[in-house]
Amino acid sequence: MSSLLLLAIESSCDESAVAIVRVAQPGGRPEILADTVLSQAAIHARFGGVVPEIASREHINAIAQLTEQALNEAGVTLSELGAIAVTVAPGLIGALFVGTQFAKGLCVALKIPLIEVNHLEGHLAACDLLETRPPFPHLALLVSGGHTTLYEVKAPFEIESLGTTIDDAAGEAFDKTAKMLGFPYPGGAQLSKMAAGGARDFVKLPIGRDKHNPLNFSFSGLKTAVSLFLNSQSDKTWIADHVPSICASIESAIVEALTQRVKMACEQRGIHHVVLAGGVAANGYLRERLTQTLTPLSGTLYAPPVKWCTDNAVMIAAAGVRRYEAGKIGSLTLLPRAYEPLSEAF
Ligand code: KG4
Ligand code: ZN
Repeated sequence: MSSLLLLAIESSCDESAVAIVRVAQPGGRPEILADTVLSQAAIHARFGGVVPEIASREHINAIAQLTEQALNEAGVTLSELGAIAVTVAPGLIGALFVGTQFAKGLCVALKIPLIEVNHLEGHLAACDLLETRPPFPHLALLVSGGHTTLYEVKAPFEIESLGTTIDDAAGEAFDKTAKMLGFPYPGGAQLSKMAAGGARDFVKLPIGRDKHNPLNFSFSGLKTAVSLFLNSQSDKTWIADHVPSICASIESAIVEALTQRVKMACEQRGIHHVVLAGGVAANGYLRERLTQTLTPLSGTLYAPPVKWCTDNAVMIAAAGVRRYEAGKIGSLTLLPRAYEPLSEAF
């Protein structure tokens, strides 16, 4: 194979993104030529969450322009592209339709292969862009606004789910408690920022467990406990004065729940290399606690730079390159899927 130019499209939720990468030779690290992201967060913030119909419309408004912008940034033309990768699942169906139909149209016109990428696979593949790639097998903690799952990744397309959330996702726990404190959607990053300098043991919060599987997660109890705590304080000025410590306590409870499961899985499986991915992987305290946990085990934490933790198209490109090199070409009649666990994506 000569060098490959691959364009990738992400439109599964409220970020429209287009990226272009070049791979000089098979197995080589993708070189990023363009990385465009247009977030709709500010548009959805006034509704307190993502409105699917608005998300689809915004993707339609953005996609052609972002593609042109990416081509200009990369200094390449459509005719030079060797393949297009697109997020096909899971996500908002209307939002996914925009990206997949656009990608299919381009692939038909350009007579190039279409590569289907599962969004969660994309989050994990972001670590392919690191200078040192995680060795196989490794554990992977995927923590985003919609998903919280701990996997054993045995090989690039061989993955086993060890534990998952039985109610809210970790990002959802951040966002819902942030909302209770009055932060606009999605409040996770702002809650974390406010936590700096706060006392982590200020409010005692529960770490939810599932008696059927100790590697599962549960965050609904934490949400209720925060709500009860805030409602039990009649003095709102007192709450306002203690926001940093309340935030630090919430962040600690979520991070400890995640860290405990990773430690348990490392011990159970005898694997000490861990990939951290998804929007919540941007959280500095989570990275710090996982590093502290893995160091005595001689393990390593592999986490993408913060900008590739939240939704982007570079991670879809990285996953697309993996699939292209493995000969996994998608069908031009593909339809997007709202639901698709990662273990069923290959
Ligand atoms: O992966 P992502 O961009 O979208 C989904 O696929 O869901 O993840 C978004 C989630 C949101 O819940 C957001 O609040 C959370 O990631 N997030 C954070 C931080 N940055 C983003 N949560 C905690 N700390 C952060 N620094
Ligand atoms: Zn995501």
